[in-house]
Amino acid sequence: MPKQLINLTVNGSPYEVAVEPRWTLLEMVREELRFSGSKEGCGTGDCGACSMILRGPQDGRGRLITSCLMLAAQAEGCEVTTIEGLATNGRLHPVQQAFIDTGGVQCGFCTPGMIMASKALLDRNPSPTLEEVREGLAGNLCRCTGYAKIYEAVMHASKAGK
Ligand code: FES
Ligand code: FES
Repeated sequence: MPKQLINLTVNGSPYEVAVEPRWTLLEMVREELRFSGSKEGCGTGDCGACSMILRGPQDGRGRLITSCLMLAAQAEGCEVTTIEGLATNGRLHPVQQAFIDTGGVQCGFCTPGMIMASKALLDRNPSPTLEEVREGLAGNLCRCTGYAKIYEAVMHASKAGK
C-alpha cells in the first residue's frame, strides 16, 4: 500500500514519517517512532491504555485522545505528547511521581494512559474533587482494579501543584 509522508511533533521533537493510510496513531508512535509507553489494550476506544495528549495547529491546550481510534495521517501538523514526554531534565512529572508515591501502579499496563488522562484533567482543573477525578478517569480501565490508589495519586498531585 502506498505510504504518505506526514510531519508532526512527538514529545517535543519534529518527525517526518511515511505512514500507511490504515495505520493508527498508536501503531505509528509505537512501531515507527519506538515510543512504546502507550499501550494497546482494546483497540476500540474503551480502555484508555493508548491515551495521548494531542494539540492541533489551531488548538490551544492539548486534548486527551485515544490514539487507537485516530489514524496516523490525521496527526499531520499536530503536537503529540506520550508518557515518554512528561519528564523534564531527568525529573519525573509530578503526576508520575504521585503515582509512585501513593502506590498507584500495580502491573503498570494502564499506568501510562492513566497518567496522561490525569495530566489532562489537572491541566484543565488543577483542583479537582474526588468525584471530578473519578469522572476525569472514567475512560481509563485498570485490570488490577487499583482505582482507590490511582484517585489518591491524582489528588496528591493536585495538592502538590498548589
Ligand atoms: S487501546 Fe485505545 S482505548 Fe483501549
Ligand atoms: S495497574 Fe494493572 S491494569 Fe492498572
